[in-house]
Amino acid sequence: MLDGDYGRAAQKAMQILVALGKIYGAERMIPVSSVQIAGVSYDNLGEAGLQFLDEMAQGGGRARVLTTLNPAGMDTENWQVLGISPEFAERQQKVIDAFARMGVMTTCTCTPYLVGNLPHFGEHIAWAESSAVCYANAVLGARTNREGGPSALAAALTGVTPDYGFHQDKDRLPDATVQVDATVVENDDFGALGKAAGEALRKGGFSVPYIAGLEGASVENLKSLCASLATYGGIALFHMPGITPEAAGLAPPGKVITISQGDLDLVRQSMNDAQIGEVDFVSLGCPHLSIREIARIAELLEGKRVTKEFWITTARPTKQIADRLGYTEMIEAAGAKFAADTCCVVAPIKGRFQAMATDSAKACYYAYAKNGFRTFLLPFDQVVEAALR
Ligand code: F3S
Repeated sequence: MLDGDYGRAAQKAMQILVALGKIYGAERMIPVSSVQIAGVSYDNLGEAGLQFLDEMAQGGGRARVLTTLNPAGMDTENWQVLGISPEFAERQQKVIDAFARMGVMTTCTCTPYLVGNLPHFGEHIAWAESSAVCYANAVLGARTNREGGPSALAAALTGVTPDYGFHQDKDRLPDATVQVDATVVENDDFGALGKAAGEALRKGGFSVPYIAGLEGASVENLKSLCASLATYGGIALFHMPGITPEAAGLAPPGKVITISQGDLDLVRQSMNDAQIGEVDFVSLGCPHLSIREIARIAELLEGKRVTKEFWITTARPTKQIADRLGYTEMIEAAGAKFAADTCCVVAPIKGRFQAMATDSAKACYYAYAKNGFRTFLLPFDQVVEAALR
């Protein structure tokens, strides 16, 4: 591939991976079984990114393993309803088409593990969405570094990745214990925990926490925690006794960071810089919603009418299940909008709203940093109530 025998795109891809391997001291390439590509929204990529993808497609680039895409900047079927301009939609579609020409599944979701890209324990993969990377490493026990857009695409086009970091046993051991002495039940609690722990871990220079003190966590709780730990602490792997698969047999590290109820309250206050009466945008689905969460929204909205712009962000296949189960009809009858394939962060909505209510600590960070919205972090059901208020 490096010699160009497999075409220009594979050669370029292998050059990227060899350079990366040299930087991190990898001694070999290893095969990967799946890839998740981030950097899909035209809002982030711009013309230069689109041109790079076009060149890779024209150069014969072809995914050699199962490859899925992160959210795009719009709902690919329903973008007009979300207020996306035709100019943006045209450029975004070109991005998706370029990936499709390379044989990439155009699922456009940050929860590929909910819609068919589900690696098993110990499998080597190359994923590039920080929340999904953390979920794959910690919850599934698969092995991936936190890839960037170009290195993930390169892994897709070659089927390999340099063997370093989280692919190796030695880098998967915990280096700090996070002792949770607080009530952590709902997604927003897990998000607040991810922020409090993530910031403390980053400050201490730790990268693989052993999180103790939690009795249970649902898939939805864990995806919220993963998103928040990755956002606020750059964490790509954690262990949680009784919950994550590699925790068994690990000793808790001696360095202990305690997270108290007071710590979580403070963190929550830091994300609540709006008043509830100021909220003019409501969004659930960061990371993308599961079908169980969509069912709950439908239940809460049945027979009611929302008064705010309310986005339900999820993967297209999950939306299709919601269609068949009648949830879509109930939700849309209440005036809420499905935003499949996209999310409130990667869509081009900068400055369009004043204040957003959400249950996601990650969404709070980017809503402010990227789109300039003030935020209100609430439990899931109360987010829906905020849309009705
Ligand atoms: Fe997913 Fe968008 Fe949140 S990509 S993790 S819903 S910022």
